[in-house]
Amino acid sequence: MVFLRGVSVLSKIRSRLAQQSATLGSVRWLQIQSASDLDLRSQLKDLIPEQQERLKKLKSEHGKVELGKITLDMVIGGMRGMTGLLWETSLLDPEEGIRFRGLSIPECQKVLPAALPGGQPLPEGLLWLLLTGKIPNKDQVDSLSKELQSRSSVPEYVYKAIDALPITSHPMTQFASGIMALQVQSEFQKAYEKGISKAKYWEPTFEDSLNLIAQVPVVAAYVYRRIYKNGQIIPSDESLDYGGNFSHMLGFDDPEMLELMRLYVTIHSDHEGGNVSAHTAHLVASALSDPYLSFAAALNGLAGPLHGLANQEVLLWIKSVVEECGENITTEQLKEYVWKTLNSGKVVPGYGHGVLRQTDPRYVCQRDFALKYLPDDPLFQLVSKLYEVVPPILTQLGKVKNPWPNVDAHSGVLLNYFGLSEARYFTVLFGVSRSIGICSQLIWDRALGLPLERPKSVTMDWVESFCKKAA
Ligand SMILES: CC(C)(COP(=O)(O)OP(=O)(O)OC[C@H]1O[C@@H](n2cnc3c(N)ncnc32)[C@H](O)[C@@H]1OP(=O)(O)O)[C@@H](O)C(=O)NCCC(=O)NCCS
Repeated sequence: MVFLRGVSVLSKIRSRLAQQSATLGSVRWLQIQSASDLDLRSQLKDLIPEQQERLKKLKSEHGKVELGKITLDMVIGGMRGMTGLLWETSLLDPEEGIRFRGLSIPECQKVLPAALPGGQPLPEGLLWLLLTGKIPNKDQVDSLSKELQSRSSVPEYVYKAIDALPITSHPMTQFASGIMALQVQSEFQKAYEKGISKAKYWEPTFEDSLNLIAQVPVVAAYVYRRIYKNGQIIPSDESLDYGGNFSHMLGFDDPEMLELMRLYVTIHSDHEGGNVSAHTAHLVASALSDPYLSFAAALNGLAGPLHGLANQEVLLWIKSVVEECGENITTEQLKEYVWKTLNSGKVVPGYGHGVLRQTDPRYVCQRDFALKYLPDDPLFQLVSKLYEVVPPILTQLGKVKNPWPNVDAHSGVLLNYFGLSEARYFTVLFGVSRSIGICSQLIWDRALGLPLERPKSVTMDWVESFCKKAA
């Protein structure tokens, strides 16, 4: 009964998402493309002048329009609710969740090309969408898959840099070190040293970004096989797409796992610009640091437990529940366990969000996937039970702004079901996916000529004196 109530909440969210798809027509420059143009770079080249013009016009006509008030609470409270960034690739609505270039997750699942009929979207399609604002056709996605394959060769020194670290170091440390080593090949850095004109910054940024996106799964798979599979590396399968091949290189060839990886990489890619990893990349890149430097910095933020590491924490926490109470845990036992976690001064991982105020649609689509492929999995059933138990308890605390589950509440049990059970590795998967969103925006940062980021900071003395004067 309680479970059914939870499902009906999810159905409400789904029907709202369906209603919102009616607004699709209002998306500014979204369109399905003709089959001819397969070259992503030349498409961008055509789009950039019109977007530069658009920004120039906005600045000259509306540059002094106020977008909101800044209160002291916002300054002390981690800039929550403060509009302060331009981020073109996606927008997060507190109630309905993420839209990639105007498209919700269910809409992406409907319109982006898939590997299987009616299957999950191919992440390459999302990359095309994020970069161009246009829905690619299957030929374009296949051509981008091939292009990424052709850019995926990782230099030997990258593996050596990773091998220099103790095998016990956290997978995110090994992954970020590998990305730093990739920086040696940066086209942007070389071009900058040669004195490239500002108007052309986006071109080597595009080269670096595509190389980086192509190589992150190879580096990530190396880290996984090094730590957990005695260093037995699995070569890339060129017949596979980006997500499918990543799963293959990790060692998972079950077609359902390939589908999961496509979904996983698609939905974790971008979550507008203010989250720790995206904002970090944008900030670092604003100093004209190249995409490798910027993305490596983002990964270090993603490795924090309040951000990307939460997916690791969720599975470890769920497994600790099972260890202590068994798989057939009652609702009462589960409530007790949640209170025990809170009373020991910890957060319930996978619940809450800095912006969202509803169940994360990234959670909903993973739940749909679980209902299709693993409805009887005991850990999935536990995740469903938690959906009933946790929100009322967090609400009871009186301070949690969003008691609903986020993306991380679900991902771990899906991966675990297909055998990828090493929770400490999960944030690396998140990082692979984030390269797509972050790099897409970095290209636009340079194309639009966005400046060095430099907000003003103040001291408590300054605030006290300002508030006295204002009183
Ligand atoms: C995501 C998160 C960091 C957002 O933080 P936020 O924007 O500050 O959230 P809120 O404004 O709702 O926080 C208000 C209070 O509720 C607490 N809170 C929020 N989510 C909570 C959770 N899941 N469990 C327990 N307490 C929580 C906060 O710690 C804060 O407590 P404090 O005032 O004593 O410091 C927070 O919800 C959290 O820690 N969640 C668990 C980790 C997680 O899943 N992260 C992945 C996010 S995608």
